[in-house]
Amino acid sequence: MWSLQSQLFTLCIALSCVTSAAGLIHVSGYEGREVNVSCGYGEGYESYEKYLCKNDCGNDDVLITTTETKKNKYSIYDDKKKRVFTTTISDLSLKDAGKYWCGVTRNGKDIYTEVKLEVVQDSCCDRSTKVQSHETGSVSISCPYDSKYQNNLKYICRGNQPSTCLQQATITSDRKRNGELRLDDDNESSKFTVTITGLTQKDSGLYLCGVHRSTGLDVFSAVELEVKAQTSLCFTEWCCVKSKQLSGIVGRPFTMLCPYPPQHGDNRKFLCKGDHRNNCTDVVTSQSRFTLQDDVPSSSIWVTITELKAGDAATYWCGSDSQWSVGNYTKIQLSVDAALFHPVVFIVLAVLLILIFALVMVYKYKCYKARGAGVSMNMNKTKAAEAEEVISVSDIYENQDVVACSKQGTSKAQSTCNHYDDAGEDQSVYQNFDITEEIYCNQAYTTANKR
Ligand SMILES: *[C@@H]1O[C@H](CO)[C@@H](O)[C@H](O)[C@H]1NC(C)=O
Ligand SMILES: *[C@@H]1O[C@H](CO)[C@@H](O)[C@H](O)[C@H]1NC(C)=O
Ligand SMILES: *[C@@H]1O[C@H](CO)[C@@H](O)[C@H](O)[C@H]1NC(C)=O
Ligand SMILES: *[C@@H]1O[C@H](CO)[C@@H](O)[C@H](O)[C@H]1NC(C)=O
Repeated sequence: MWSLQSQLFTLCIALSCVTSAAGLIHVSGYEGREVNVSCGYGEGYESYEKYLCKNDCGNDDVLITTTETKKNKYSIYDDKKKRVFTTTISDLSLKDAGKYWCGVTRNGKDIYTEVKLEVVQDSCCDRSTKVQSHETGSVSISCPYDSKYQNNLKYICRGNQPSTCLQQATITSDRKRNGELRLDDDNESSKFTVTITGLTQKDSGLYLCGVHRSTGLDVFSAVELEVKAQTSLCFTEWCCVKSKQLSGIVGRPFTMLCPYPPQHGDNRKFLCKGDHRNNCTDVVTSQSRFTLQDDVPSSSIWVTITELKAGDAATYWCGSDSQWSVGNYTKIQLSVDAALFHPVVFIVLAVLLILIFALVMVYKYKCYKARGAGVSMNMNKTKAAEAEEVISVSDIYENQDVVACSKQGTSKAQSTCNHYDDAGEDQSVYQNFDITEEIYCNQAYTTANKR
């Protein structure tokens, strides 16, 4: 301290102006922005002229005095009640950094206060923490801070501009909730957490975590958020779609249902035929017997084949074009049975079958002990035939199930998504999809639940 004062004294002699130097004033500002340099003065000097000068404070070094309010990029204001005069330096450049003096003009020796100005770039930071989430999901951005800032104001803003961050903060620790945002300050572990829910891809980008300081510049850390398109992670609306096996009868009309994700409403829908979905052929454009009817409210396509032919037995894929990676398609395996029976013949046959069954029962009752084994074999055959009928009926009902299911889709889907979130193993689920084409999201849903 003594050496500083003696240095100042030397300076005083050299300039023959400086009589005293109060404490050093540190001021910081951002490049391209403005900074205020405030200097106090003693009682009785209210009406004296004040000024700001640079370097050694020679005559050429005086930047502005209170006799002028504005000069170049400097402006000055003397608050006589508070006995503080403030010089504002605007459009700061890195060259402005350095030593300044606040001066009070007196007869003889002026009064000086030394000022040190620091100019920093208006961007942050050398590195940023990367955080990922996906559309409609949520994310927690964790912002650690030095424990000495426990009681300071915390905030977060978008972009990479520290100078305007507090002003444009999306949320601060003063106002802990703002729409989809929430800020929790955990002062014990010295970090605050900003939770954003209902993410959209627009939320992607750089964020600055800020801690406000009363003196000096605020402290920042950067976080880069990436919100992935939901399509690449969760095929939610397809959760109830499965590979279906249907059968029809030659010569009859046939209808099947293809559900699609609700947001695909405006997309072109298609039905194509072939064992492999990557090289199947579009049947609707090539064959007039096939018609597609889009039922937007239930998010499904009705596929009608006017007159079924034996050659229609094949694997079909219905889908809608969009950026869906998996679940772009619903697989339908259609088998076509020959129209052997006219309905009347069918009924007669059924009656006959019942008669035979009754006869067999009687026969069985009589000959049970003697020839039990042989009869029971016949029985099994009959049961198998019955079972087939039941299956073809249940196939028809399956179509209805899908309608109901696709309506529930969204809420179920949501929980699937959330589960992906928690497990954090979206990729492995995704791989499951890729390997077995037939296993759609409903399987993944079950798998996810088991975990
Ligand atoms: C400088 O002071 C003026 C007047 O008090 C104020 O409006 C302005 O925001 C201050 N600038 C900075 C960078 O603090
Ligand atoms: C930390 O937060 C708790 C609860 O808000 C508060 O009671 C406590 O005073 C805080 N501690 C410090 C050091 O600010
Ligand atoms: C269709 O693709 C599959 C596998 O991708 C391939 O095995 C098959 O030969 C292809 N068929 C035609 C007709 O190109
Ligand atoms: C889903 O559709 C997109 C765009 O049409 C395509 O790029 C992608 O390969 C499809 N996904 C599958 C699994 O076929």
